[in-house]
Amino acid sequence: MKKADLKTHLRVFADPAEVARHAGEELLRRAQAAISQKGRFTLMLSGGSTPKRLYQYLAQKALTPELLKSLWPQTHFFWGDERTVPADHADSNYRLAWENFLSKLKLPEANIHRMKGESADPAKAAADYEASLREFFKLGPGELPRFDLVFLGMGPDGHTASLFPGRDASLELGRLAVASWVAKFNTHRLTLTPAVFNHAACVIFLVTGEDKAETLEQILNCGPSSERYPAQLIHPSPGELFWFVDQSAAP
Ligand code: 6PG
Repeated sequence: MKKADLKTHLRVFADPAEVARHAGEELLRRAQAAISQKGRFTLMLSGGSTPKRLYQYLAQKALTPELLKSLWPQTHFFWGDERTVPADHADSNYRLAWENFLSKLKLPEANIHRMKGESADPAKAAADYEASLREFFKLGPGELPRFDLVFLGMGPDGHTASLFPGRDASLELGRLAVASWVAKFNTHRLTLTPAVFNHAACVIFLVTGEDKAETLEQILNCGPSSERYPAQLIHPSPGELFWFVDQSAAP
């Protein structure tokens, strides 16, 4: 996506609470539209700590009888990446969402598409998740899933999901999900690939905190250098890309 385009999708809010509120309201708008058009809403959650405020906002504002009856049961939750830990581990991206929001929805298990971070074989866990995506979205050979909404975070080093600086060859093998070795943490992580994110109808980065300001400035104002900043691998087309950031992170 051209540099100028990235700018037009930058939305700066006063603080992390406002980022969460606007993200939550955008989620609800897109969910209602998707469900009225096709009877379901496919939502991909990001990892890390930033989404916690979003989950808390939804737990406070989006558990009305109407939404519990007509919106959440038609919503399918997925993850863009997961740490190689059990679901009840403090580092689990699933656990953060479950404890702060999903557990309150009383949804059928079939609505929650968890990556099996506990697997002793991360490559198999990634392949199994990929197979589950192919089945859910009824994908033919070479086809990509189109998520209605994808949330992503960004680290101070410009990583997103579990796409870290430097190339990972496994990302170029036409896969939807891989187990990527993250040297920085001396561990594998499960992650969807850029092709999946870029096929989404809408991607929203949630970025807060001054420790990300310099990297965000570079990403929004310099040319593509995805070797250095994996977040620049994300440029959905024809989908939309938004950056919801707080004042501290804003360029
Ligand atoms: C993860 C994430 C990762 C995260 C960023 C931002 O599993 O850690 O997917 O990409 O979104 O590191 O993390 P914070 O929200 O904690 O700053």
